[in-house]
Amino acid sequence: MSSTDQQIDGPRGCQEHELALTVDLLNLVMRRAEGLPPTIGSDYPHVYCAGNRENMRIIKMGGQVVSHVGLFLTENKVGDHALRVASLGCMVTHPDYRHRGLGSAVAEDFARTMTELAADVGWLGTDIADWYRRLGWEKAGREYIYKLDRGNATLLPSVEEYEVQRGYQGYLEQMLARHQQHPFGTNRSLGLFKLLLDRPDTDRWPQLETYVATRQERLGAYLVVSGREVLEYAGRPEVVAGLLGEVFRREDEPAVSTSDRDDTGAPALDATLSVHAPVADDDLSGVLAGMGLPRSEGYVGLLRIPDLSRLLAKLGLDEIEVEQEENSAVLSRGSESCQLTPREQVKLVFGPERVADFAADLFPIPFYHWPLDYI
Ligand SMILES: CC(C)(COP(=O)(O)OP(=O)(O)OC[C@H]1O[C@@H](n2cnc3c(N)ncnc32)[C@H](O)[C@@H]1OP(=O)(O)O)[C@@H](O)C(=O)NCCC(=O)NCCS
Repeated sequence: MSSTDQQIDGPRGCQEHELALTVDLLNLVMRRAEGLPPTIGSDYPHVYCAGNRENMRIIKMGGQVVSHVGLFLTENKVGDHALRVASLGCMVTHPDYRHRGLGSAVAEDFARTMTELAADVGWLGTDIADWYRRLGWEKAGREYIYKLDRGNATLLPSVEEYEVQRGYQGYLEQMLARHQQHPFGTNRSLGLFKLLLDRPDTDRWPQLETYVATRQERLGAYLVVSGREVLEYAGRPEVVAGLLGEVFRREDEPAVSTSDRDDTGAPALDATLSVHAPVADDDLSGVLAGMGLPRSEGYVGLLRIPDLSRLLAKLGLDEIEVEQEENSAVLSRGSESCQLTPREQVKLVFGPERVADFAADLFPIPFYHWPLDYI
């Protein structure tokens, strides 16, 4: 359809010649409006690019790209199973075109696209959860966040027998193998992994850095750190824990004043390191919890299930029958049954809250999405 001032062109995939216009809109809304430089292209080089442009869903009006949502597919392991995950990023409408339903239209198009792509679950991170709730998204999943500081980092095991190196040079293939061995690893190509790790220093990914612990050129563990956060780790749990302690020491800044504050009133010194971890990673959590390290919990994100029957089959839960009704689904297994809205289905399958007693022995499924994969 050709566009005029009145006509709405889309939602549809972005064409090659519209790529620059679309990325300009994303930078306008997600970066320049926040007083930040236009870094969307380098923050997510795998998402907002020619190779993924069909999954950059846009609406044009009067020849201008006015609304957009991005989709990126990954395959995430959940123990013995793997789920196709459609991540949602850069949901934006131009400020002059808001409150007309355009954002909702591209978000609905995202839902159709993820069904076409046979995704099992949609993932997004946001601070406007209630806008997405109208569209069937719900907070779900559970992650642990451990916080290291000067009072506890010294208790982590030693990695004396390992050589600790900043940067992944020479170890990328072993890192990928370690990541893919992890029960919650994402299926990444070597090229994609490198692209994610090589992203430049921006407000979104400050000082993105990889650390490896090796012995006789064999990788024991790795960490990916950005600012004060550990975004990803893999390897032998006691080596991961030791590497956390070593990186904490290396990143600590003993020369910074402990009493000064910056212009916003925040302390000048932030001598902490937060570690994001899947709740079902018994190995690392076993080491850290065994030390008595406290942890907080958060949701993995907002999730949406495009097709509950297919998701359950993917998880090997064919014993549950699903009958789809207009705005809900009836689930049954033996003598048990329950009727749930799309958002309740998300909570039933991924938790953590219990919305029904149904199949309490099977749910929740410990889904995880590594922060390095966030878009
Ligand atoms: C979030 C965002 C994408 C919404 O885009 P939008 O095109 O305005 O979305 P919609 O028009 O579908 O919905 C916005 C509001 O308009 C209302 N609306 C929808 N259709 C409408 C219509 N035809 N007439 C009037 N209002 C309408 C919606 O109910 C919603 O109301 P609420 O904000 O009071 O709850 C946009 O505000 C934006 O770009 N924000 C900045 C970036 C951002 O925060 N993105 C999300 C990051 S996760």
